[in-house]
Amino acid sequence: MKKNFFLIITIFLINLDFSFASNHYPITTESKIMIERGKLAYQNNCVSCHMANLSGAENWKDVDEDGHRKAPPLNGTGHTWHHDDKTLHAIIKYGLAKLVKNYEGKMMGFGDKLSDKEIDSVLAYIKSFWSKENYEYQLKLN
Ligand code: HEC
Repeated sequence: MKKNFFLIITIFLINLDFSFASNHYPITTESKIMIERGKLAYQNNCVSCHMANLSGAENWKDVDEDGHRKAPPLNGTGHTWHHDDKTLHAIIKYGLAKLVKNYEGKMMGFGDKLSDKEIDSVLAYIKSFWSKENYEYQLKLN
């Protein structure tokens, strides 16, 4: 009996947490939990190309030795903030291969590794690096 009670409470709390950090657009930086979750997912999946501080590859406007574009900064110094949330979500979920015909670059999708919620958490984390102006500009695109 007691066990069931705790189980129900736990499930309730998990649901509550998810609904607070849910992926309603626009994605904001209001939820610290969401940002922390996003940071973790970012560190595990994105750092190798976009770098720990989100600054992107060195000389990111050049192409790499394979002739592909390098990873751009996501910290607001590039053009990431010119895309709305749905576009950014799709880029991360499906990669550019699904969105750009004959794409041969290196931004592949993470749909098999990250849930939609995790992807949106990564976006909240990314947005936490943007200047107030960029952040507010991008919110209006949604
Ligand atoms: C293997 C290297 C690599 C990894 C890992 C990687 N990316 Fe990328 N990413 C790229 C490259 C390269 C581009 C530029 C795409 C192009 O122009 O071909 C890009 C582009 C993007 C863009 C579009 C940026 C813009 O300003 O238009 C977003 C958003 C993005 N990546 C997010 C992520 C996230 C989030 C992760 C982790 C879940 C991730 N990337 C992991 C290489 C990578």
